[in-house]
Amino acid sequence: MVKNSLFDEAWKLLQNSIVEFEGKPIGTLAAEDKSSNKLNYNQIFIRDFAVSAFAFLLNGEHKIVKNFLEVTLKLQGSEDGMDCFLPPKGLMPASFKITATSGKDILIPDYGEKAIARVTPVDSAFWWIYILRAYIKKTNDLEFAKRKDIQNAIKLILELTLTNRFDMFPTLLVPDGSFMIDRRMNVHGYPLEIQALFYTALLSAKEMLIQNSRNKNLLEYIDKRLGQLVYHIRKYYWLDFEKINKIYRFSIEEYKENALNQFNIFPESIPGWIYNWLRDDDGYFVGNLGPSQMDFRFFTAGNLLMIINLLADEYHSKSILKLIFNKEKELIGEMPIKICYPALEGKEWELLTGFDPKNIAWSYHNGGGWPVLMWYLAAASVKMKSTDHFKKVIKIAEEKLQADNYPEYYDGIHNRLIGKEARSRQTWSIAGYIIAKTLMREPEKINILAFEESPEIISRAHSNGKELDY
Ligand code: GLC
Repeated sequence: MVKNSLFDEAWKLLQNSIVEFEGKPIGTLAAEDKSSNKLNYNQIFIRDFAVSAFAFLLNGEHKIVKNFLEVTLKLQGSEDGMDCFLPPKGLMPASFKITATSGKDILIPDYGEKAIARVTPVDSAFWWIYILRAYIKKTNDLEFAKRKDIQNAIKLILELTLTNRFDMFPTLLVPDGSFMIDRRMNVHGYPLEIQALFYTALLSAKEMLIQNSRNKNLLEYIDKRLGQLVYHIRKYYWLDFEKINKIYRFSIEEYKENALNQFNIFPESIPGWIYNWLRDDDGYFVGNLGPSQMDFRFFTAGNLLMIINLLADEYHSKSILKLIFNKEKELIGEMPIKICYPALEGKEWELLTGFDPKNIAWSYHNGGGWPVLMWYLAAASVKMKSTDHFKKVIKIAEEKLQADNYPEYYDGIHNRLIGKEARSRQTWSIAGYIIAKTLMREPEKINILAFEESPEIISRAHSNGKELDY
């Protein structure tokens, strides 16, 4: 039974998760779970707070978001030198906690050096800029955006990410577990979610950097990279049945500039499940792309974020939503929505996760269902002005969320089991629901989270010398 008070209860729980620093609200705990084994769920995660921040902003509360941005500024890496044990300039921590010593509040950040398996939070800095942009969209507080320390933080993030590296791709090369999937899951290399966040951060920076002669070069690099990302992702990551047909007939070992199979993808690597899975009218962006590697798994957050930030064009966006709703049973099942599909099983699971018992097939990051992902699906549906399906999805969630005490994730092929190690009262499950519900009631608020088409970027993408013939 759906209780009318569900939204109000969720709102109250979100308020309860607020943490204060020096007497001011500055963030939300990852979970309010009462179990003894808290691990780091009693910290403020930047990626998790983004969901809280969006829920607050959509519902007219912005002070906590500004406070968060000001406090986290102090945590941004500032190390110029070559000491690998100090956070590099621009890096934002994955999470931080607050302790009180002699009556003074102290911030204790974790840049990955304490995290399980020492994973690097590449996404934190991108979420930080995205939160800032949403805050400015909502409040129009341009004075804040123009502040020297804010402008500097944006620039440091750009310098850290736009710099030359060992490869020559527009996409970012990252280690395993560098984003929401912060465990070994064969998501190292050029995973989709990082690229979608990188693009979002560049768009946000473009909007917020002061247009002056000192920023001219940086703004030009941003535009260039945005165009390159659009070209690269749309052309090489897009997968529909037509593309499968092309890959199936690919030539291999092409040593030339104008190779058709640039990444030397072996047709034998197309997984059997995909032939019956993909329909003629749907499609999606693959999970990862690198040398002789195309990860055919469907990753929900990356695909949906690309509808929200328009890295996907209209045809892609419609196809992705069609795919999700064509595959309602597999992807949404009894609780929205799977983080990726399908799960790694057997030998693949052994080799690619390193026998990770938390990530066995259809559990946690390996094909589990995550209520937080509802906000992405809500925002993408509103962006595409097609919310009928989503309204049914939110009803499914409402049947269970409260009764199950807002779990972090669900397990099983159809997301029927509460996740084996799921925390309850997971803040981003609560905030994800609040965003989804708010957007269904007030779709015009999508402008706080979404982006508009930029003809400038698209024309740069097309002027990359070749046709965009995905
Ligand atoms: C887990 C998730 C990560 C999240 C954190 C806090 O580590 O994998 O994405 O940020 O919990 O909720």
